[in-house]
Amino acid sequence: MSHLRKLLEKYYNAPEIYQAGRYWKTYEQQIIQEIESADINQLRSGDYPIFGTFGFTESVYNYHPKMPIHQKVARKIIRKLFVTNRAILPYSLKLEDIREMAYNYCVINGELANFKSISEIETSTFGNPADLFEINGKKYTMQFLNFYIRLCFAQKHMKLQGNETIVELGSGSGFQTAVMKKVFPDLTILCFDLPHPLFLCEHYLSESLGEGNIVKSTKTIDWTNLSGLEKGKVTMLGNWQFPLLENLKFDIFWNAASFGEMEPHIVKNYLSFVTNSCKHIYLLQARKGKESTQSSGVVTPITFDDYNKMLNMFSLIKETDAHEAHRKMSQSGGYFQAVWSRK
Ligand SMILES: C[S@@+](CC[C@H](N)C(=O)[O-])C[C@H]1O[C@@H](n2cnc3c(N)ncnc32)[C@H](O)[C@@H]1O
Repeated sequence: MSHLRKLLEKYYNAPEIYQAGRYWKTYEQQIIQEIESADINQLRSGDYPIFGTFGFTESVYNYHPKMPIHQKVARKIIRKLFVTNRAILPYSLKLEDIREMAYNYCVINGELANFKSISEIETSTFGNPADLFEINGKKYTMQFLNFYIRLCFAQKHMKLQGNETIVELGSGSGFQTAVMKKVFPDLTILCFDLPHPLFLCEHYLSESLGEGNIVKSTKTIDWTNLSGLEKGKVTMLGNWQFPLLENLKFDIFWNAASFGEMEPHIVKNYLSFVTNSCKHIYLLQARKGKESTQSSGVVTPITFDDYNKMLNMFSLIKETDAHEAHRKMSQSGGYFQAVWSRK
């Protein structure tokens, strides 16, 4: 835990532009407190709903964190008796049908993307995911399938060879990085994030991909340049270390469900370190911007058109509504995913 405190100290001492915007500041203290008392082995069990704010959401049903225990139990029993095992959904659907359809959607998308099939990879069980299921002897969660679908979209338009260098900002849980490395084991990936998600993300990735594949923030925390980068590994860095990218040429910049939670000047600052150095950019964001009221959410929502303008030195290759493996992403009024390539 003292390492989390060291990361936090570096972050708080960093320039204002690297501090979270209003949307994220709301969660910061809650997440830090929860990490301090959490059992990391139960990270994905649904016991810590606040970790869902950055991706550790792997419950089939979402229970409100403040719901009394007897209500939770009653709901579980009702669901088990009347929903999970009975065909009461439209077209006689059951939970396993939804999972199988999502899996098959991944199979087809993997074929179209022409890379490793979902049937050849599986999720780690670290963190005790509540949504764990098996298909053809391999373990999955819906989230694992969702991140595979994102990579399929990216692959169709970027045609990765498997030896590229990818920079991800706002990696959250690290699920995307885990899927990328399972599909393309030789990728070099740099994960940047705020200190608290970074701390849990590197725990998860060390378990999911193996300690040997991760260069942890305990090692990178004092880096003043990227000369220590190891090819083929995942390197964990604090978001305030983003300027270290200044002289790095890399292939892809990746940001999913993260820029939308920042203010435009914060996004512009991050982009200023990548737009001169990468070949492709992948974004998945709320199309009309994230929620915003007088006192909560983002101060200034960023829309698809804003991103497109910020990336005017790139060509927009493809843009679609974002889909998960089992549904359209309709939260916050809908998400887009898009790939831009250098002109
Ligand atoms: C909703 S989560 C998305 C995580 C992951 N990319 C995904 O798709 O599940 C938002 C992520 O953006 C990060 N984030 C928010 N504000 C940030 C900022 N100002 N600088 C860097 N990262 C930020 C959060 O720490 C978190 O990891």
